[in-house]
Amino acid sequence: MDTRSASRQGLKIDGQRLYHTLGELGQIGSYVDEETGLSGVNRLALSAADKQGRNQVVTWMRALGLSVTVDRIGNVYGRRAGVRDDLPPVMIGSHIDSVPTAGRFDGCLGVLGGLEIVQTLNANDVHTLRPLTVAFFTDEEGCRFGTDMLGSAVATGRIALDEAYRLRDANGCVLVDELRGTGFLGAADERLTPPHAYLECHIEQGPVLRSRGVDIGVVSGVQAISWHELTITGKSAHAGTTPMYLRADAGVAAARINLKLREMISSGQFGNEMRATMGAIAPNPGLVNIVPGKVRATVDLRNPSDPHMKDAEAAIIAFYQTVEECEHVSIRWRQSARTDSVKFDDSVARRIANGATALGLSHEPITSGAGHDAQEMSRLCKTAMVFVPGEYDGISHNPREYSTMEQCARGVDVLMAVALELADES
Ligand code: GLV
Ligand code: MN
Ligand code: MN
Repeated sequence: MDTRSASRQGLKIDGQRLYHTLGELGQIGSYVDEETGLSGVNRLALSAADKQGRNQVVTWMRALGLSVTVDRIGNVYGRRAGVRDDLPPVMIGSHIDSVPTAGRFDGCLGVLGGLEIVQTLNANDVHTLRPLTVAFFTDEEGCRFGTDMLGSAVATGRIALDEAYRLRDANGCVLVDELRGTGFLGAADERLTPPHAYLECHIEQGPVLRSRGVDIGVVSGVQAISWHELTITGKSAHAGTTPMYLRADAGVAAARINLKLREMISSGQFGNEMRATMGAIAPNPGLVNIVPGKVRATVDLRNPSDPHMKDAEAAIIAFYQTVEECEHVSIRWRQSARTDSVKFDDSVARRIANGATALGLSHEPITSGAGHDAQEMSRLCKTAMVFVPGEYDGISHNPREYSTMEQCARGVDVLMAVALELADES
C-alpha cells in the first residue's frame, strides 16, 4: 500500500480507456439528429434512457470496487475507502442526464473521469488518506422538470426534498413517481455530510479556451441564472376574419418579450455580459390560420453580476405587465430556477493551476457560462472546476459537441493530481 505523494507524481490516466467509456455511455439514449444528421444523445432526466445510463454507471462503479449509495433524490455516490476512512472524502462528480439534443461529453466527462481516476489508482495500488467519492447527481439539466442542478441543490439544502418530489414535467408526470420508476429512489439521507472538497471536470461548452489555444480552464466561478416559465393567454380566433383591433394574440406577446430581451442586451444597462434566451415558444393551437390563443414560453437570463441580474429581472417582469396591457393578453409566470453567481475556492483553483503547470499544460482562469453541480457543492465545502476546450466553437447542448481524447485526458489528469493532493490532507 502506497500513501506517499511521491508515488503519485507522473501518474496519468488512460485517455483511450476514458474516451472509450464516454463512447459506450454515449450509445445509451443515442438518436440520429434531424438537423445535423449526426448521432446525438437523449438521456432526459429519469427517462428510460437515463435509467439505463444510471444502471451502466453503477455497474462500472461496482466493478471498480466502489461502495454505492443512492439517496432519496436519486443522487448516486460511489465511495473508495481511504486509509483514514473516518475522514470526510474528496468528492469528484457531475451528471449523466442530458438535454434531449446532447453530445457525449456534457457532465459525463466529470463522472467517467472520476471513475477513470479510480481505475488508475486501483491499477497503481495507490491509496489515499481520505476516501474518494465519485458522484452523479439527478437532473442537472433541468429540461424536464424545469429547474436545473436539482439533485445537488437538494443534497446541499437549496431545494427541499418534498418540493423536488412534487415537480411535474410537461406531461404532468410527477418527479417522485418517475424517480421510483427508474429504481433510483434510494434510502440514504439526501442531505450530504460536507465532503473535504469537491472537484468537477467539465467541457467548457463555449469557444474561449479553444480560440486562445489554452489546454485547461481554471474555473473561478459561475454566473447567476434566472429562469421564468410563462403562460401567455390571449384569444384564439380566425386569422382571416378577425380584425386586427379585436385580437389578443399570444404569439405577438411572446415575440415582443423576446425582442425586449435583445433590446435589454444592446442597451448595455445590465452589463456587457448579460445573456438572454427565449428557448421555448410553443403556440396553441399552432396552426397557419388561427391566431394563437395561448403560448407557453421560457426566459433564461444569465449574468456574472448579481446586481445587474436583479435589475434585468425587474425590467423584464415590468415588461410582462406592459405587454399584458398593450396586447390584451394575460401573462402568468413563475420562477422555475434561480441561482446567484458563485465564486469557487481560491486555494483549490490555485492547486488546479499549479497541477496544470506541473503537467506542462497551459491554463487560464475562466468564468463558467453554464450551470454546474459544483456551484451547489460550493455551499458545503471547498470547490473548484477544471474546464477542457471544445472543438467547433465549443458548441454544446448539440450533437456536434466534441472534445478530443487529448483534451479530455488532460483535464482529468489535472483533476487527479489535485484530488490526490486534497485526499492526502489530514
Ligand atoms: C446547464 O447546462 C445550463 O447551464 O443550462
Ligand atoms: Mn453539464
Ligand atoms: Mn448541460
